[in-house]
Amino acid sequence: MKPWGGRFKGGTDPLLERFSASIDVDRRLYRQDIEGSRAQAEMLARIGVLTAAEKKKVLKGLDEIEAEITSGSFTFSEALEDIHMHIEARLIEKTGEAGKKLHTGRSRNDQVSLDMRLFLKEELRAIDGCIVALLRELLAKAEREKKVIMPGYTHLQRAQVVPFSHYLLGHYYALKRDRVRLTEALSMADVLPLGSGALAGSTIPLDREWVKQRLGFSRVSENSMDTVADRDFVVDAIYAASMVMVHLSRLSEDLILFATQEFAFISLPDALCTGSSLMPHKKNPDALELIRGKTGRVLSDLFGILTILKGLPFTYNRDLQEDKEPLFHAVSTVKDALSIMALCVGGLKVRKENMEKAAGESFMPAVEMAEYLTMKGMPFREAHGIAGSAVRRCEDEGRFLGDMPLKELKKLSPLFERDVFDYIKPRSALRMRRSTGSASFGEVMKVIDAEKKYLGL
Ligand code: ARG
Repeated sequence: MKPWGGRFKGGTDPLLERFSASIDVDRRLYRQDIEGSRAQAEMLARIGVLTAAEKKKVLKGLDEIEAEITSGSFTFSEALEDIHMHIEARLIEKTGEAGKKLHTGRSRNDQVSLDMRLFLKEELRAIDGCIVALLRELLAKAEREKKVIMPGYTHLQRAQVVPFSHYLLGHYYALKRDRVRLTEALSMADVLPLGSGALAGSTIPLDREWVKQRLGFSRVSENSMDTVADRDFVVDAIYAASMVMVHLSRLSEDLILFATQEFAFISLPDALCTGSSLMPHKKNPDALELIRGKTGRVLSDLFGILTILKGLPFTYNRDLQEDKEPLFHAVSTVKDALSIMALCVGGLKVRKENMEKAAGESFMPAVEMAEYLTMKGMPFREAHGIAGSAVRRCEDEGRFLGDMPLKELKKLSPLFERDVFDYIKPRSALRMRRSTGSASFGEVMKVIDAEKKYLGL
């Protein structure tokens, strides 16, 4: 059906009708579309296009339509393509002449951009709220387990002893950075497009400043052509969501590994794991695997939208309609993934003995051994070599550095004294590390205090 079909002889091919309909997807924007239409009606009344009585009628009609859609009594049909046409058609049904005036100076091109921006302003704040909830869980767990130590890894090989809390806070800071990206994406979305029309604005004296205030935008877009061609704000939002997912995916992978029988550093909450249909003993970390898997799909949302935009001629093209599925998918997935991760972090049990056993049974203190010699004046490269030979000797003989008698150490360097054994105890390193941001108990405590303030705790 072509509600404004004056130019056309016949109807649209039914196949195209189905192919081009976006209503199943963009009906999700109905509240934003109606809110934008309210502002449009009020503005049109201010500039004298609608009479006060017409405005009243239109606003009442829009309220009713919102109630119909919310309650499920509204009839959707593919023949009406998208949410904008549905609402306008129903409004005209309800209000006649008044409803027919609502689209004055407006195009679906600026209208859809408005709806998406209103949607994103809400959703980006909601995602940010989910991040904050996860940050709280990470911080609470870090504080509760602040005395526990574990191996820190590079190349997935035991590298240096760290407090488990420092490890958790590492993920915390990655997610904290995501908040900055979300804020940036929010600011990109926070621009009023309405009033740009199809691409060139209007001869009608639309009061864009007033609409900006009415809808709570910070700025009015500056170039009508750019405005209807622009989906950068969608890319920015999906990119911000993608980075969150990448961070969650890396954390998921760690937790999956740490929950294996091989590591046995943590156990995951039963509520987030499933059993096997065949193997009675299995407890599978499905929730985390799904976060990892769904990350792939959110990344495909990012590539999807970028590919849609690449090479599009200025200005609006119908291709842009395809922006909604990736956006909606990315936004919903990232909220769910963040909430599930918060449950997971909150509910995981730390298996302290295993973590600390792994921290003890390793050559990780070789670093501290080298630093010990360095503090006694030996150049670091030389100290590195000596600690390395101590490791080789221990490895050959099946012992750890702390088991080497002082006599043997002295053969490697006369600088070794009895106090070296204190220096290379795993916990000593965590007391002695000094550099800002290092994996030490002192730094962790400072950070926990500062981050509590940051989260308003
Ligand atoms: N459903 C369309 C979209 O999402 C609305 C804009 C249509 N504009 C047009 N000129 N066909 O992009």
